[in-house]
Amino acid sequence: MQFTKALITGASSGIGEALCHLLAQQGIELCLTGRNEKRLQRLQADLQHHVPTSYFVADIATPEGRQKVSARIGEFVPDLLINNAGFGLYGDALTYDSDVQAEIVQVNVVAALEFMLAAGRSLISCQKKGVILNVSSSAAFEILPSFAVYTASKAFINSCSQSLDFEMRPYGVRVLAACPGMVKTAFADRAAGGEVLSRDQDEISMSPAFAAQAIWKQIQQAKPLHIFDWRYRLMVEISRFIPKKWVAWFLKKSIEKRYPKRAFKSGPKG
Ligand SMILES: NC(=O)c1ccc[n+]([C@@H]2O[C@H](COP(=O)([O-])OP(=O)(O)OC[C@H]3O[C@@H](n4cnc5c(N)ncnc54)[C@H](OP(=O)(O)O)[C@@H]3O)[C@@H](O)[C@H]2O)c1
Repeated sequence: MQFTKALITGASSGIGEALCHLLAQQGIELCLTGRNEKRLQRLQADLQHHVPTSYFVADIATPEGRQKVSARIGEFVPDLLINNAGFGLYGDALTYDSDVQAEIVQVNVVAALEFMLAAGRSLISCQKKGVILNVSSSAAFEILPSFAVYTASKAFINSCSQSLDFEMRPYGVRVLAACPGMVKTAFADRAAGGEVLSRDQDEISMSPAFAAQAIWKQIQQAKPLHIFDWRYRLMVEISRFIPKKWVAWFLKKSIEKRYPKRAFKSGPKG
């Protein structure tokens, strides 16, 4: 499928930024969004030489920010929507205030859902074909204590994307979920609340450019669900044959090395 216009959330860094460069090389008009205005401005200035590029700032953890993005989707009618913005927090759920954990759900689940529906509606009402690509995670297939809300949010994305793909496919709209393993971006540092303590996972981490290429290939092949790279596909496959509690224990131990010890939160918000 040939695309003419793409809207990318979380365009200001990591996988989103790499995808913007790749899509610009394909000659696709871009609309970028994120919170970090300086980075969005710089990226727009770079890409503007290749393709028409616009940007706007929106914090999609808030209803106002999500409304802004949904409205822009309605006006711009992208035939490629990339729901990429997302974050997670390492540590037991009880070590964070509830509203902080709920923010993960607002960004990774509520925003992605609202934008999928906005894009589906705008494309179908304009009788246009298109693709909605949701950036999920290979972690979505596991039970992962110390990363519980994040993995659950991505499990929602996988399930919802596959069902919506069936619903929208007859109208020419595909909904796909990309499930990368670890990618070298700011993601892990944000999850650790600063710098990650242990970088022993770096060997199995991919570059954002590699992840962007894998996602672009998935879009071209219209593959509903794609885990990459092969090492993560293998891990997900193997983990099906191992008792869940062993996998959960192993993953919890490996994540615990990455962030400083955290204490339980209590009080009115907890
Ligand atoms: N890196 C990994 O190991 C990995 C593995 C599997 C899946 N993923 C997924 O890949 C996607 C991209 O992550 P990344 O690795 O590229 O991390 P990243 O470099 O931290 O990028 C995350 C992006 O999400 C945006 N974002 C976060 N909170 C937001 C909010 N409240 N409002 C608007 N935008 C917000 C950030 O924008 P601002 O900085 O402008 O706020 C940033 O552009 C995420 O969905 C993540 O779950 C990452």
